[in-house]
Amino acid sequence: MSAVPAGSAEALLRVDQVSAGYGLMPVLQGLSIEVRAAEIVALVGSNGAGKTTLLRVLSRLLPCTGTLRFNGQDLLPMTPDQAFGHGLVQVPEGRQLFDRMSVQDNLLMGAYRRHDKAAAAQDLERMYTLFPRLGERRRQLAGSLSGGEQQMCAMARALMAAPVLMMIDEMSLGLAPVVVDQLVEVLAQIRQHGVTVLLVEQDVQVALGAADRAYVIESGQVTLDGPARALVDDPAVQQAYLGG
Ligand SMILES: Nc1ncnc2c1ncn2[C@@H]1O[C@H](COP(=O)(O)OP(=O)(O)O)[C@@H](O)[C@H]1O
Ligand SMILES: [Mg+2]
Repeated sequence: MSAVPAGSAEALLRVDQVSAGYGLMPVLQGLSIEVRAAEIVALVGSNGAGKTTLLRVLSRLLPCTGTLRFNGQDLLPMTPDQAFGHGLVQVPEGRQLFDRMSVQDNLLMGAYRRHDKAAAAQDLERMYTLFPRLGERRRQLAGSLSGGEQQMCAMARALMAAPVLMMIDEMSLGLAPVVVDQLVEVLAQIRQHGVTVLLVEQDVQVALGAADRAYVIESGQVTLDGPARALVDDPAVQQAYLGG
C-alpha cells in the first residue's frame, strides 16, 4: 500500500485556523485539526457541520484561508491532482463508483496515476485478501453490488492509489451494523500497513469505536477533541450525539 513518512515530529496533516465557504456563506470558521502518521482520526458532527467541506478543502477542491500542511509540504497552493499525487486520497460520500465497470476495473482506475505497475498488481491481490467479497465479485459490475460491497469497492479503489492519508466521507451511512463492523476491522488492518485514516462520520458511535482520536465539529469549528475512548464518556458527547 504505502509508506509512512519517516521519523518526522511534525504531524502528517496540520490544519490551522482554516476558513472556507461557498460564495459569501462561511462554513469553516477557523478550524484546526492535526492527524499524525498511522493514526485513525475521526471527524464527527451533525449534518451540515462542515465535515464534507473540510474534505473538499483538503482535496483542494475548495479555496480556503489559513494553514494546510501535509507530509512536510504546504498543501495550500496545490491543485486537486497534486494533492492526490502526494497521497491525499478521498473515498467520497455515496461511493461514486463507476457503476457500469467491473469491480476489478474500478480498482484498477484507482491506480491509474501510479507508475509502479508491478506493485499495483500486487496491491490488487492484496485488496482481494483484505476484502474477500470483492475477490469473489471481481468480474461483477460495481453497480450491482450491495451497499456494503460498494463501500468496500470504493475503499479498495482508494487504497489502489497508494494513499498516505485516506479520507473517508460517511463510511457507515446506510449500512447494516454487521457490515460496518467489517469495515472498521479493515481500517485497523489498513493502518497496520502504514496508511493514516481520517474518518468522517455522522454516526458518532461508529466513529468513536473505530478511531484513536476524534474531533467534534459544530458550525465549522472544533468544539471538542481528545482520545476517542475519553469522548465516548464525555457527558456533552453523550447528550448531544449518543442519546445518553
Ligand atoms: N456546494 C455547496 N454550495 C453551497 N452550500 C453548500 C455546498 N455544500 C455544502 N454547503 C453548505 O455548507 C454547510 C456544511 O455542509 P457540509 O460540509 O456538507 O456538512 P457535513 O458534511 O458536515 O454534513 C451546510 O450548511 C451546507 O448546506
Ligand atoms: Mg457530509
